Amino acid sequence: MSHPVPLQFQPVNLEGLAELAGRIVLVVDENGKTGAAGRRLDKLTRGAVARYLASGDFAALKSGESADLAWPAGLAAEAVQVVKLDRKAEATAARAAGGTIGRALSKAGTLVLAEGVKLAADLSFGLALRAYDFSAHKTAEAKRPGPVTLMVADPEKTAAEAAPLAALAEGVFFTRDLTNEPANILTTYDFAARLAAMQELGLEVEILEEEDLTRLGMGALLGVGQGSESPSKVVVMQWKGGAEGEAPLALIGKGVVFDTGGISIKPAAGMEEMTMDMGGAGVVAGVMRTLALRKARANVVGLVGLVENMPSGRAQRPGDVVRSMKGDTIEVINTDAEGRLVLADVLWYAQERFAPCGMVDLATLTGAIIIALGHENTGVFSNDDAFCDQFLRAARAEGEGAWRLPMGPAYDAKLKSRIADMMNVGGRDGGAITAAQFLQRFVKDDMPWIHLDIAGTALLKSDTPLAPKGATGWGVMALNRMIRDRFER
Ligand code: BES
Ligand code: MN
Ligand code: ZN
Repeated sequence: MSHPVPLQFQPVNLEGLAELAGRIVLVVDENGKTGAAGRRLDKLTRGAVARYLASGDFAALKSGESADLAWPAGLAAEAVQVVKLDRKAEATAARAAGGTIGRALSKAGTLVLAEGVKLAADLSFGLALRAYDFSAHKTAEAKRPGPVTLMVADPEKTAAEAAPLAALAEGVFFTRDLTNEPANILTTYDFAARLAAMQELGLEVEILEEEDLTRLGMGALLGVGQGSESPSKVVVMQWKGGAEGEAPLALIGKGVVFDTGGISIKPAAGMEEMTMDMGGAGVVAGVMRTLALRKARANVVGLVGLVENMPSGRAQRPGDVVRSMKGDTIEVINTDAEGRLVLADVLWYAQERFAPCGMVDLATLTGAIIIALGHENTGVFSNDDAFCDQFLRAARAEGEGAWRLPMGPAYDAKLKSRIADMMNVGGRDGGAITAAQFLQRFVKDDMPWIHLDIAGTALLKSDTPLAPKGATGWGVMALNRMIRDRFER
């Protein structure tokens, strides 16, 4: 499993700076005024630092951006990186500045001179997130970065601020690892085992097996998994950090470990990307990990439906009718619209067993949401304006793109079936919305509910300020913040 780089905070001490190997990073505000660290570095480089800070190149840097000095003579360091960070920067800008450092960490170690930085904890968080590297399957020695030291004005205070952020980074890494992992390794067995291992952190974890799911009547979920050699499972993770007896918030994730489309099989090109179709379950797992690591004072239950959507002699066919745990029957028009079938039963189970105070589901649910919003924003759907606004505010504060889309009875009407209570698809038009309408049929009337379609945001082909290419962990930060701000006592 990937863990954030080891990182320590120290008081500013410039002895030995000239002999230091690895990278030296100087964080400077928009005025280019430096403290003792910058002056010392300038002296050692015979004025190169001051010349750069007075140049147009430095003036052209935006807050959060950085540049390497061309010839840091006078130092043993392999590079000197100057990072600009406005004095009044927000946390997201401080994290982005940290990200530019995290992208360039050295094997020989990195020293960050950040004595004037108020948001040093956020800077360190961004650094950690961007330094993520999924190298589990690279047989050559991993390019592990050396230790990172941040010299700051008040190390104790910064370390205290950084502690909950370190728990958050661990959660994001957990989500990214799960989402990046190929499906021959992350089977339903392996996924459930990784979740069960979180019992060590104080989470209560239960694994419901196929016979349990059959007894519960989860015909919609079981239909999706019946073509696979890997058995379907539902994993329940409870974190009880809140008042005893207080209704929990429920987080529900789509955990399709691989989505071939089933008998309605997908085209070959790009099918390998469907290893990420458990991304919703990955986010739920990452949030639960963070809550446990930072001992959140809230009751939260995470439920994930783990299945594999395969074509086989036992697979579900187009035209099959399945019966959900709720009792409603579903005509499976397209076996590739499987995520909603899985979520239908897990949503219903969550309500029947836990009577939660609210529910948030996450799913790589539709290609249509990518057509609508691209890869910049997750599609947000909700039956409760106040709850939804709380989530959107949290997402904005964390810099995670999220955009609400409409719902309504006219969309729901597209799901009418000739022979069953509903079909599992509503046609191409507004495909992300009709998928959300399908889910809402399994949400009780007075239950505050948010559906997050993360098909476009869970995994990216290009890197971002806070993540290399691949799984992003989108949503772990926003949900953690919403829980902290709204649900913790
Ligand atoms: N897992 C896919 C959605 C998806 C597409 C996720 C691209 C990530 C990237 C989902 O199960 C699916 O296949 N949806 C179909 C639904 C359709 C058959 C109604 C789709 O979007 O094409
Ligand atoms: Mn599918
Ligand atoms: Zn899918």
